[in-house]
Amino acid sequence: MGKTNTKKKITIENRPELHIAKSPVTKPYNDIELDNWKNYSHIKTDTWWEFASRDNTNGHSNDYHGNYIPQIAQQLYERYTKKGDVVLDLFLGSGTSAIEAVNMNRRCIGVELKQEQVDIVKNKFSQKELVTDVRLICSDSSNKNVTEKIQAELDILRENKVQFLMLHPPYDDIIKFSDKKEDLSNCKNTDEFYALFKQTAQNGYDMLEKGRYAALIIGDEYKKGELIMLGFECAKRMQEIGFKTKACIVKNIEGNERVKGKTANLWRYRALNGGFYIFKHEYIYVFQKV
Ligand SMILES: C[S@@+](CC[C@H](N)C(=O)[O-])C[C@H]1O[C@@H](n2cnc3c(N)ncnc32)[C@H](O)[C@@H]1O
Repeated sequence: MGKTNTKKKITIENRPELHIAKSPVTKPYNDIELDNWKNYSHIKTDTWWEFASRDNTNGHSNDYHGNYIPQIAQQLYERYTKKGDVVLDLFLGSGTSAIEAVNMNRRCIGVELKQEQVDIVKNKFSQKELVTDVRLICSDSSNKNVTEKIQAELDILRENKVQFLMLHPPYDDIIKFSDKKEDLSNCKNTDEFYALFKQTAQNGYDMLEKGRYAALIIGDEYKKGELIMLGFECAKRMQEIGFKTKACIVKNIEGNERVKGKTANLWRYRALNGGFYIFKHEYIYVFQKV
């Protein structure tokens, strides 16, 4: 009879100290663990985004005509930012980008032209958050000097550049936000709107870290019976600045509508009469600074 080999085979299971911890595979611009990619079914990867309604929880409310729905920030931050990153929003409005940044353990520098709006957003955060997480600037984002103001806030946050850029400009003059001449919703004509948008996007580009991402949320408009492709035209200006285009997402706008249904019949009559179609979508363009 041969000898039985009683030596225990050494395996990772019975000698856990031999197990070398494997660090998760992630991209430099987000925290998604690619080796667990099946756990991220909530993250959208296709170009059609449909949301039944606005998320009005966790500090968000529909208190500003023209605000975007927080689910957009949730999706973009998870795809394109890491915890602790700084988001720059050059059209802060009611502060959706900043609220969601804090909710998701990111930080935000927000620029808004109207002082009263900045004051409203200030009241949405604690004193501590206004020091360490959210920095608010009342300024004209299309003016070159805004970059110095942003740099001063970055110094306080101990950062050199921002890691994500959010641009949600007025859709030309569809909603008039103020009578100020610097207001992009108050331009003499659409060409002036494009020019101010491009200057603003350039300021954002200059403040963004290389390799990082930017998003443009925008819809088109009808003017004098003609479709004006604001989305395409603004995206083109971003390309001219040097951004590389990564995506054009189409999102339903039902969740944005405040008076849903009330004027539906009127618009349907106008569409049939004028030979056009009623907008049901807007765009989210994604760019990278290469
Ligand atoms: C479409 S809204 C942004 C809404 C915002 N994303 C939110 O969720 O509340 C555009 C904002 O840009 C502001 N704005 C217009 N022109 C500006 C400028 N030159 N510099 C900074 N902000 C400007 C308007 O006052 C308005 O609040």
